[in-house]
Amino acid sequence: MPTNLEGKHITLGVTGSIACYKAIDLASKLTQAKANVDVALTRGAENFVSPLAFAAITHRPVVTDVFDPQSELSIDHVALAERSDVIVVVPATAHTIAKMAQGLADDVLTTTLLATQAPVIVAPAMDAHMFDHPATQANVKMLVERGVTFAGPASGRLASGLIGKGRLVEAPELLGVIRTTLGRDGDLAGRKIVVSAGGTEEAIDPVRVITNHSSGKMGYAIAEAARDRGASAVLVSTPTALPAPHGVRMVKVRSALDMRDAINHECQDADAVVMAAAVADWRPVSAADQKIKKGASNEWSIELTKTPDIIAGLIGDSLVKVGFAAESQDLIANAQSKLVSKGLDLIIANDITAVDAGFATDTNRVTILDREGGSDDLPLMSKYDVGVNILDRVKPLFRREKL
Ligand code: PMT
Repeated sequence: MPTNLEGKHITLGVTGSIACYKAIDLASKLTQAKANVDVALTRGAENFVSPLAFAAITHRPVVTDVFDPQSELSIDHVALAERSDVIVVVPATAHTIAKMAQGLADDVLTTTLLATQAPVIVAPAMDAHMFDHPATQANVKMLVERGVTFAGPASGRLASGLIGKGRLVEAPELLGVIRTTLGRDGDLAGRKIVVSAGGTEEAIDPVRVITNHSSGKMGYAIAEAARDRGASAVLVSTPTALPAPHGVRMVKVRSALDMRDAINHECQDADAVVMAAAVADWRPVSAADQKIKKGASNEWSIELTKTPDIIAGLIGDSLVKVGFAAESQDLIANAQSKLVSKGLDLIIANDITAVDAGFATDTNRVTILDREGGSDDLPLMSKYDVGVNILDRVKPLFRREKL
């Protein structure tokens, strides 16, 4: 799945903490995402992990010493500082954070940090008392004011045995922070894009709902693709099993009516809306206050009423409107008619009968239709790539001035 990590130069500055082993996993995930990963290890880090472990994962030399004659990067530390698109200090000890705050440059990492113009992310890992100490807190504040991004620390069980704030954040969260940081000046910077995801839940009683098979994967992938290109992405989502993507603002909803209110509100100042959610067309006329008992009858009917069509009801000429059409037959004809009847700019025709496309899959196969009669049949691809393709077609349609 190519993301905005592909081809980027990412420097990991690894400092002496028991959490060092987690940096190996991060280096591996970044390398798999086709980033060029350089690792600078401090002496403290070498007590926990060997340079060889990182070199084996990244297939690149690891730099440990500013004056190491064997390393192409040692004396020319400025080269590392200059070629980095982002530098991530992971894990960051209290000591390294203090050195950064004071502008010290007594090893390869702090020297590189002082010489770089690239954005810097710091992921602390330390004992809770060390993190809470006024000295560390003052150093963190100073670095934040200078534009350094902090990821964590998270709360939980620490190596010291304490339960508290000091754990290194997990790799998926850090990847989100890195992708958000790299995307900041992307081609969608200054644009607000609202995406809906998941299947709405229409309450029958406090226990039962009418819903559908949407996992939220399609909507989440579009929101991540928008974030990776610098957009201010808002995800209006029903409950799903997916983690909230870093750098995407989440608005949680359950029913079609909740979703309508949230979408109407968020779209007031948005540039585009992409409705990937599977919204119920019908809901019970009213939800029972108490659990409905089984009773003696073998039959039970629920009176349903139509939900409002959220995307069709959006007003404002400047909003680019993109809908999905989940179809099990006459895909293109049905999608075309929804494009027109709902007043959309684009519709994504989604055949939900294929096993590798539609609900709950990681891949999708769609056709993008536009108002002018254009039709683009995309091959099977990841839902993230479908998102990238949709955004490529949304971009020339923007009608608002940039924020
Ligand atoms: O979440 P996943 O498991 O990844 O699955 C993805 C998906 C199959 C749900 C997604 O790709 C998809 O096709 N979503 C649209 C599902 C749907 O509701 O389609 P529809 O043809 O019923 O509706 C057409 C469009 O109108 C949709 O954009 C829908 O969000 C919108 N709509 C529908 C009803 C309603 N009351 N208000 C709406 O705005």
